[in-house]
Amino acid sequence: MSEAPKRLKKGLTNYGDQGFSLFLRKAFIKGAGYTDDALDRPVIGITNTGSSYNPCHGNMPQLIEAVKRGIMLAGGLPMDFPTISVHESFSAPTSMYLRNLMSMDTEEMVRAQPMDAVVLIGGCDKTVPAQLMGAASAGIPAIQLVTGSMLTGSHRSERVGACTDCRRYWGKFRAEEIDAEEIAEVNNQLVASVGTCSVMGTASTMACVAEALGMTVPGGASPPAVTADRIRIAEQTGAQAVELARQGLTIDKILTPAAFENALRVLLAIGGSTNGIVHLTAIAGRMGIDIDLAGMDRMGTETPVLVDLKPSGQHYMEDFHKAGGMATLLRELKPLLRLEALTVTGRTLGEEMERAGSGFAQEVVRPLGNPIYPQGGLAVLRGNLAPGGAIIKQSAADPKLMEHEGRAVVFENSADLAGRIDSDALDVKADDVLVLKNIGPKGAPGMPEAGYIPIPRKLARAGVKDIVRVSDGRMSGTAFGTIVLHVTPEAAVGGPLAHVRNGDRIRLSVKNREIALLVSDEELARRAAENPVVEPTAERGYRKLFLQTVTQADKGVDFDFLRAPRSVGKAPE
Ligand code: FES
Repeated sequence: MSEAPKRLKKGLTNYGDQGFSLFLRKAFIKGAGYTDDALDRPVIGITNTGSSYNPCHGNMPQLIEAVKRGIMLAGGLPMDFPTISVHESFSAPTSMYLRNLMSMDTEEMVRAQPMDAVVLIGGCDKTVPAQLMGAASAGIPAIQLVTGSMLTGSHRSERVGACTDCRRYWGKFRAEEIDAEEIAEVNNQLVASVGTCSVMGTASTMACVAEALGMTVPGGASPPAVTADRIRIAEQTGAQAVELARQGLTIDKILTPAAFENALRVLLAIGGSTNGIVHLTAIAGRMGIDIDLAGMDRMGTETPVLVDLKPSGQHYMEDFHKAGGMATLLRELKPLLRLEALTVTGRTLGEEMERAGSGFAQEVVRPLGNPIYPQGGLAVLRGNLAPGGAIIKQSAADPKLMEHEGRAVVFENSADLAGRIDSDALDVKADDVLVLKNIGPKGAPGMPEAGYIPIPRKLARAGVKDIVRVSDGRMSGTAFGTIVLHVTPEAAVGGPLAHVRNGDRIRLSVKNREIALLVSDEELARRAAENPVVEPTAERGYRKLFLQTVTQADKGVDFDFLRAPRSVGKAPE
């Protein structure tokens, strides 16, 4: 069998004459001044996701320069190319609506252009998942580089960072504890530099998860965006990409069930974002690997939260980096990890941990015997309100509310919520359960991070800091509270959530992993017959594709036609 074409000969444009196609390709690229010698080297693609709309990727020029240096030092030819960039605050209706589009862009441009390996540079919440999903489907050697976290700022001598503190200060403003002048002042300090959110939000979670998957060079998760360490990681990443290309180490050798098990373990131990489970499910789905939510929940009972970062703890990403980053965490988790999982270095996770050596005294990563929280950060709930499952970030919830029964106060959708939540006429008490419908994958659409329902203003003024909230949406990884998310199936496709009414009783028992609507099956069936749900549709374009093919949260909110056609395994195994 002849060897698959490599380098510039890969993926020739179809003119019906392969020799002519290569001749033409070389003629055009020589227009940019390349020599034959340069064009004969392993070609390493680099995704350029820099954008004026994306300050989380604001160090892209420096990172690309360093990656190129690493590639050239290792004898490769760097070729950067643009793909979609998605920032959380600059994406309407929500960044999640665009994640799958970015994954398709990444997959198809990696597939269409000649490259022997690809360096994926992402950072802001949806970009790393989108890139890993796309690269998983493209199937070539790939390595992830994250942009790194932003620095923290200071407000009246208090250390602040996006975006747990954004929410905390906004909560104080809503409760009229601080005035308009102070909220404007703190707005200047929350994001002190380019880079991703400085707490254990979704971006930091996905950075740690990418390293746990074996998709970054060791130590790649934690250096802040504007540091020399981050630039060195970029250079190493470029050099390693050339090695990956030489060895032909394709992404399927890295993204195995063992790698996903390690990623789930780390997700639980870092008190990671609830979004992490949706993204991991989607990435695994591209490899034909099913994430077993019940299995993950069992892992949670033996995996304490060790990383003391906001919103579950106290510190910020730059502190995690100074404490040794992922090497320190993995050392603590060693007895629970699949050490045989291969990484992009060509060595196993266990071998990399040996190479990292022994640790040092630090206060950000706790030992297994003295955790921040005794169980994993995330718990999977089931019950008649969520037959397909729901998620709660128990490490960021109020312990007093985790066993709770209350009266439902229902909002039909985001507009209904916005119209009534601050009304003094709203009939709500601190022990009620706020229910928000129609913010799921199809409902909003795009499953926005609106599950962090604000405390009704009249309760906030009275000093209420937390209340049980239930929705089919997501919440930011930087948010906190007793918040049940990802209720599946969602209201917009006729899940039981669609039929909850004001005054119904809802029971949350995190101990029993239960979210129950205390209404009989017969009554729910009667309500469903009375008010049948009509699924949302669109007449054209991406929105039509989205509404016709998006899956529920338990399938990663990926498009059904993008998942691998066959299941090859599950994680945990
Ligand atoms: Fe980009 Fe938080 S908004 S990481």
